This record gives sequence, structure tokens and C-alpha cells, in this order.
Amino acid sequence: MSDSTRVLGAPVVRREGRDKVTGTARYAAEHTSADCLYGWIVPATVPTGRVTAIRTADALAVPGVHTVLTHDNAPRLKEPDDPILAVLQDDRVPHRGWPVALVLAESLEAARAGASAVHAEYTATGHDVVLTGDHPGLYIPEEANGGHPGLRERGDAMRAFEAAPVRIDATYTLHGLHNHPMEPHASTARWSDGHLTVHDSSQGSTAVRNSLATALGLDRNRITVVSEHVGGGFGSKGTPRPQSVLAAMAARHTGRPVQLALPRRYMAAIVGHRAPTLQRVRLGADRDGVLSSVSHEIVTQTSRIKEFVEQAAVPARVMYASPHSRTEHRVVALDVPSPSWMRAPGEASGMYALESAMDELACALGIDPVELRLRNEPQAEPDSGRPFSSRNLAACLTQGAARFGWNDRDPRPAAREEGPWLLGTGVASATYPVLVSRSAASAQAAPDGSYRVRVNATDIGTGARTVLAQIAASVLGTDPENVQVDVGSSDLPTASVAGGSSGTASWGSAVHKAATALVRRLAEHTGPLPPDGLTVTADTGDETAQESPYARHAFGAHFAEVAVDSLTGEVRVRRLLGMYAAGRILNSRTARSQFIGGMVMGLGMALTEGSTMDPAFGDFTESDLASYHVPSCADVPDIQAHWIDEDDPHLNPMGSKGIGEIGIVGTAAALGNAVRHATGARLRTLPLTPDKLL
Ligand code: MOS
Repeated sequence: MSDSTRVLGAPVVRREGRDKVTGTARYAAEHTSADCLYGWIVPATVPTGRVTAIRTADALAVPGVHTVLTHDNAPRLKEPDDPILAVLQDDRVPHRGWPVALVLAESLEAARAGASAVHAEYTATGHDVVLTGDHPGLYIPEEANGGHPGLRERGDAMRAFEAAPVRIDATYTLHGLHNHPMEPHASTARWSDGHLTVHDSSQGSTAVRNSLATALGLDRNRITVVSEHVGGGFGSKGTPRPQSVLAAMAARHTGRPVQLALPRRYMAAIVGHRAPTLQRVRLGADRDGVLSSVSHEIVTQTSRIKEFVEQAAVPARVMYASPHSRTEHRVVALDVPSPSWMRAPGEASGMYALESAMDELACALGIDPVELRLRNEPQAEPDSGRPFSSRNLAACLTQGAARFGWNDRDPRPAAREEGPWLLGTGVASATYPVLVSRSAASAQAAPDGSYRVRVNATDIGTGARTVLAQIAASVLGTDPENVQVDVGSSDLPTASVAGGSSGTASWGSAVHKAATALVRRLAEHTGPLPPDGLTVTADTGDETAQESPYARHAFGAHFAEVAVDSLTGEVRVRRLLGMYAAGRILNSRTARSQFIGGMVMGLGMALTEGSTMDPAFGDFTESDLASYHVPSCADVPDIQAHWIDEDDPHLNPMGSKGIGEIGIVGTAAALGNAVRHATGARLRTLPLTPDKLL
């Protein structure tokens, strides 16, 4: 027997870890059978226009090719709930890379050969793919991603800025970024007795099932979507993607199981991306560094078929006290693939600019950047006026500074040399909202004394199964090993997506509720349990939909040390240290991994990752890992993640905040600020590749 304080927070080892490293864990593309057909997409080769003819005879003549689906012969879909799923329905090409045909063959090789033998003809219309700050199509959307207002104003930020004795006015540029989870998107679909089963690489199989039901015009209970093991997603698998629709449609058309995996170089056009942003930040302050005006204006892009607005000005509504504030998003619809979620959409981009501008202000004032942030701590959430349920940014900054060895820093730029290397350190704050969604779970007590929890959570490599076992065990008064956890199927009690750093809070609340009810039932029960045990089901219902009277956010501080080669312009990261305040940490091992993973992704954002749009071809230039550079092990230095134990009673029964995304937030700014300290050069466009530093 173990008490909850020992179970929650313990560094329990991920339960499926051994299956993964020994290769027995099966992923979506691995649920094939001897009668399976393999699919290969034919992507549009014009940036926008229409398909005028599509000739498939040569493809069908390739040995092994079974069928070619195009908009001429593909099954008709009902209008899907997301326009990106309306594939092979008409001759439109909204952007380059849009699927115009699907080749199905007896082998993957035959499908690929067949796809290269499909001849498509197009009428190409003029395309508009380049984001500029003065694009005539820019408008202020009603809402940015997450339901946040496109524009918010308090007081008169422009007048206060003009009147401020110290002013920073700087524009930062972020290129687009691509989600590249280790496992590309894939689906294997089969029909059996009118029931559709899809193994899909997804962050939420309930949402995939519901989308397929809508698109195929099927009852939800005739579809099962399984996402048992998922090799990462970073948001790109948070919404249903076309491979699941294509595989299901092809399996229905051919009467055979169909496997469809996206080649990595097709992903950029199909699975979403973090849209580029041009961000102007204006800060006005007095000579003590106290802010009087904060203005953060975002210019970004969406596609022609879907409005998605990266909510990059939203963190400025949360971070610092200022009587005057203006936070604005403007967006333009271009002939580009639809942007979508990528780890900390909004916060990751917005905090790069805001936290770089805070560093610029600190430099202008000659105030230590940690101290400047402490002087602008708000009493309540600046925009809403709501009290914080807990806010320990100040503790993260001061305790992080102590651990990092910040306090004896010489603030002068370019003052530390080591041979050809210039050394510098930088700091930035981090924030991420506490999100939670409705979920259901069941808990069962078996006669042998073991327990079983069922919930359609998705484990995208984070350790969801493990932490849910800990949560259940803490309530049931048992060891986590005594709790079986079933996740990853839409046939399980309905639960929310693994996104928005909300999974553990959402699923965990349902598991906690079910386990609590089970304990009560067991207390009432007399005599031995029946052979199938006792089972209770719980649903968090509208508990999670109620607006909290508190502003609930996780906070953190990132510290970085870099060495810049003065001969080559290369930036090497020497140290990264994150200090977080994210409620109660439920598994110290998996939490540390998520924090560190987020920081590595922030390192990529700062130094190596960046997508550019080829204006002539209307295509992403970096669409594979040879050109889109994610950090390798050799790029990743000594990284430390630490946290402050927060006791926040206004969250959920576990007292936890989300941890999946905050690690990326502010990391790029901390690195950029460190490069500025090392070299004296303030660069405002990422990534900080050697060409920019020379
Ligand atoms: Mo995360 S970008 O919310 O999957």
C-alpha cells in the first residue's frame, strides 16, 4: 500500500518504454496484413489553380498497381468538419502539395512507382505566397487560435508610449516552422462487416473517429480509431489529417485494408506548420524600468481554405503589469498550406519577441534583465484583472538565477573571450495557460485485488499511461503497478486530445473521479467481488467548461549560455537551465523529459530551424530533414530542468498544471539574448545561423 504523496511525483518508469525500445510496440503503419494495399499520394505540382486532366493509364500499367483514386472516381464525402479533409472531391488546388490522386498497390514500392506515372495537367492561376507587413489583404480577425480576441486594448498604449522617457520599438521576424515528429503521419484502415477500424497516428482518436463519421456519413459507433503508440506529434496530429480519410475511403472503394503513410517530404504541405510572424513590440518605461506601455502587434498568414491565426500577442496580455496595453493580430490568407498547432502555438512565437524586447529594455536602462522582470510583476492578470491561481515567475527567475550562477554576470557585451569564442548568457521568462477539457474514464476493481482504468487518452511519447496509473493508484491506495491502464482507442470512455498541455489534467480528472467513486463503492460492498469485479464510470462533464474565477497559467524562466565563434559565426549552446512553476509535478522523470524536450525544440527554433517559401514555385524550400535542420544530439548541451513545488488549490484534484509546451516558450529568446550578450549584436530574425552573425 502506498499513500498518495509517495505515488504522485515519483519518478515511475514509463510502462511502454521497453516495448518501444525492443521494437514490439506497433505503430499505425504496422497494422498491416497479407491482403493489404499500400497507398502513395500524388501531390499537386502547381501552387494554385485547377486540375484539368489527370491520366492514370500509365500508373495502372505499373505491375502491382491496383487502383488510382482521383477526384473523378473517389467516393464522395459529406462536407468534413475541417476543409483540409475534403480530399479528392473536386479539381481545386488550394496550394502546392495538395493531394490530387492516391495510388493503391500491392506493395509500397509499386504504389510509389505508380504515383510517379500519374500525369496531371493543371491551369495554374497567379499565386500569392509571400507574407509582408503591408500586404493589402491583412485584416484583424475576430478571434485568434484558442478563441482569444484578435485585438485587445487597455488605456491608450500609443500615447503612453510617446510619453515614456525610455522606449523600445523593435520588429522581430520568425520564419515558418515545421512539425517533424519522429513517426510520420500514417493510417491503416480496414472495413469488416460494415465496421471501419483505423489505426491512426494521432494525438486524439476520438476526434479522428468523429471527423471520419462526419466525412463518411457513418454512425460514430460503426468506427473505431486506435492510436495505441504514437511517435510524437507536437500539434500536427492534434487535429485529424487527410491520411485517415484517404485510407478509409480507399479501403471502402477497394474492399481491402489500406495502409497510407506520409513520406516526410510531403508532410510540410499536409500536416500544418507554425506560420511565419512579423512582430512589432513597443515598450515604454520610466527610468527605473517600470512599464507604462506594452504594445505587441503580430502579422501572420493563413491559407485560403481555413483561418488559423497564431495567437502570438496573447502572452503579452498575461506577462507584465502596465497601465496601457495594445495586443493585435493581423492575418492574410495566402495560397499556402493551412497553418496549425505546433508546440505552444502563440506562446512560443510571441514570447520570443516580447522577451527579446524586455532584454533590449534592460540593456537600454542598464538594469539587470532578471531585476527588470521582477519590477514589472503584476498583482493580477493584466488584461482580465483576475487574480492568479498561483504565479511563481519571480521565484523561477530568482531561484533559476541562483542555480545557473547568473548573479556574478558581467553585463557588458562581448566582454568574455575564450580563444576565438565569445561567451554570453541570457534569460527569458516562460508562460503557458492551464487548459482542461471534458473527459470520461472508468475504474474497475477485480476480485484478485488488481485494478483497471480505461480512458481514451493518447500517449504520444509523454508517459500518459504511467502518470494515469499513478493518479489512480494514489486514490485507490495501491501501487501503480497494480493498476492496468487502457488508452488509445475511441472505443474507450471518451477523452480529450493530447494537446494544449491539457492531457494529464483532463484525463487525470476523470480517472481521479472514477477511482474516487470506486473507492466509495468498494466501501459499501460486502462479501467477495463478483467475477467481473466492480466497475464505475465518471465523466467530468461541464465541470471543465466552467470559466475559472482565477487566471491559471504555468510560469518559468530560461537561462542560457552560448559560445559564438568569432571566425565562423557558429553558435554553440553550452548550457540551458529551465526553472518552472507548474503546480504539482506528478512524475518527476517524465516531467523532466518533457521540459527538456521543449527546451531542445526551442534550441532548434533559435539556431537551426526555419522554413522559407519559394516565391516562384509557391513551395516550402525546406521540406525534408536534410534541409530543415532539427537539433541533433551533438547540438544539445548540458540541459537542466528544475521546478518549484507549487501548491495551487484552484486547478484540479491532482493540483497539476500542464508541462508539455512551456519548455519551448522563451528558450529562443534566452538564446538570442545570450548571443547579444556574447557579441553585442542584436539580431531580430531567427534562426541565428552563421550567415546572420558574420
Ligand atoms: Mo500541442 S501544439 O497543443 O499538440
